[in-house]
Amino acid sequence: MAVLKIRKYGDPLLRRRTTPITEITDATRALVADMIDTMYDEVGIGLAAPQVGVSLRLMVVGDERGRAPRGLVNPSIVAEGGSLTAEEGCLSIPGIFADVTRSEWVHLEAQDLEGEPVKIEARGLFARVLQHELDHLDGVLFIDRLDPVTRDRIKRKIRKDGLADDHTHRAFAL
Ligand code: NI
Repeated sequence: MAVLKIRKYGDPLLRRRTTPITEITDATRALVADMIDTMYDEVGIGLAAPQVGVSLRLMVVGDERGRAPRGLVNPSIVAEGGSLTAEEGCLSIPGIFADVTRSEWVHLEAQDLEGEPVKIEARGLFARVLQHELDHLDGVLFIDRLDPVTRDRIKRKIRKDGLADDHTHRAFAL
């Protein structure tokens, strides 16, 4: 078990569409254990494999209180609805927070680490976490979902000031 280095905004791997996992191995399970360690070290409640430099369809999530962490293999959203706007941040874009509009609820299907099918019905914050992490697997970051004016303002700020260092406050980052 180990805390992994988080890839930051500007790293091309964060923009790549990830590859499905065809075989769940001990290496997959070891990676998930490390990702969970990393997520808690960073005080996150979700983390996607590209954020630790692995371009596979794999994420770890905790529940609404950040407990009961688990790995989800090859996740996909099979149904969603409603609309909810709330502040969001990302461990890969430290120090940046903005209101993001997403589906209020989602039904997600995935496999667990034994390859068994998993179905999750989520709403509110947990649904937001799942959508945010799934975006990571498609090379999408939360700032892509902002209106163009806000997005450009944030990009200018990052160019001018850089990203926050690793010791700033990062409540609710994914
Ligand atoms: Ni993120």
